[in-house]
Amino acid sequence: MKCVGIIGVGAYVPENIVTNFDLAKTVDTNDEWIRSRTGIEERRIASDDMDTTDMAIIAAENALVNAALDASDIDLILVATATPDYAFPSVACLVQEALGMKNIPAMDISVACSGFIYTLVTAKQFIETNTYKNVLVIGSEKFSKIVDWNDRNTCILFGDGAGAVVVSEVSDGKGILSFELGSDGAGAKHLAVCKETNTVTMNGREVYKFAVRQMPESSLNVINKAGLEKAEVDFLIPHQANIRIIDAARQKLGLKKEQVSTTITKHGNTSAASIPLALHSEIQNGRVKDNDIIVMVGFGGGLSWGSVVLRW
Ligand code: ACO
Repeated sequence: MKCVGIIGVGAYVPENIVTNFDLAKTVDTNDEWIRSRTGIEERRIASDDMDTTDMAIIAAENALVNAALDASDIDLILVATATPDYAFPSVACLVQEALGMKNIPAMDISVACSGFIYTLVTAKQFIETNTYKNVLVIGSEKFSKIVDWNDRNTCILFGDGAGAVVVSEVSDGKGILSFELGSDGAGAKHLAVCKETNTVTMNGREVYKFAVRQMPESSLNVINKAGLEKAEVDFLIPHQANIRIIDAARQKLGLKKEQVSTTITKHGNTSAASIPLALHSEIQNGRVKDNDIIVMVGFGGGLSWGSVVLRW
């Protein structure tokens, strides 16, 4: 069986920083509440003229440079997003046109915050079966356009941004060692976009309980499937939704604080972009190193979850 992994990573976050203090001027909240309940200090918010596709394009260009590939080397584009510019055409098709990747297949995959793991695993299937060679996988979200900025329960949580990776065959023993995808539609009502207002509604407590249970369970499942012990895990890149959820998962996996990505402090919850954005940051920080065993785990609307173990 081919080994499939990530050979290039790119990211983009908007320049505009919105702090907790900024939000406290418009809704009844404060920096202390947001920090202690979520870990978030600030988030990036895209300007009106920048949509999900614009951010996806920049992240994709960066990933291609990082992979030392040309746009013409890519033979499939997959975009994870819950906030596409349009119902159709897909963000993926708009990226294809912008980067001049003529005629290759391109599609969006909608699994909310779990979307990046789903697209990564989908890319792996196509490469393993020799269908495609280099797959561009992007997570891009402009959540700010579906947030009710008067609802303090939700507006403090989200941010905008994009992350992209190039997925290809890698050398023996490296790449994705195992994965798990799952969903539970019975929990659909807990996290949704309201039809009437087109804004996010959330039962925070229920999503919290689900995440605290599902993130460590799914992580342990993929560690076992890969034939590894949890002590062999070097680094955890969880979906960045709440520092307390991340910390609960960290403790169940027996990891130290420095073995876990917590970019939520600066980015907030960027949904499908959060894991590739965190990966990009941790590579820059030198915390993801050659041969490391990394667990990536996402959860979100659906309810849904997904995780992978990979050797970097
Ligand atoms: N500032 C100040 N007070 C607030 C705020 C705020 N921004 N928001 C809520 N409160 C108040 C509430 O009104 C409540 O007041 P009350 O006791 O008088 O009723 C009090 O604070 C406590 O509210 P809780 O909901 O109990 O707070 P909790 O500790 O559960 O934290 C939070 C809320 C942060 C939303 C938490 O439940 C959470 O993180 N849940 C998971 C969210 C998540 O992971 N979402 C994923 C989205 S992923 C995707 O697919 C899009």
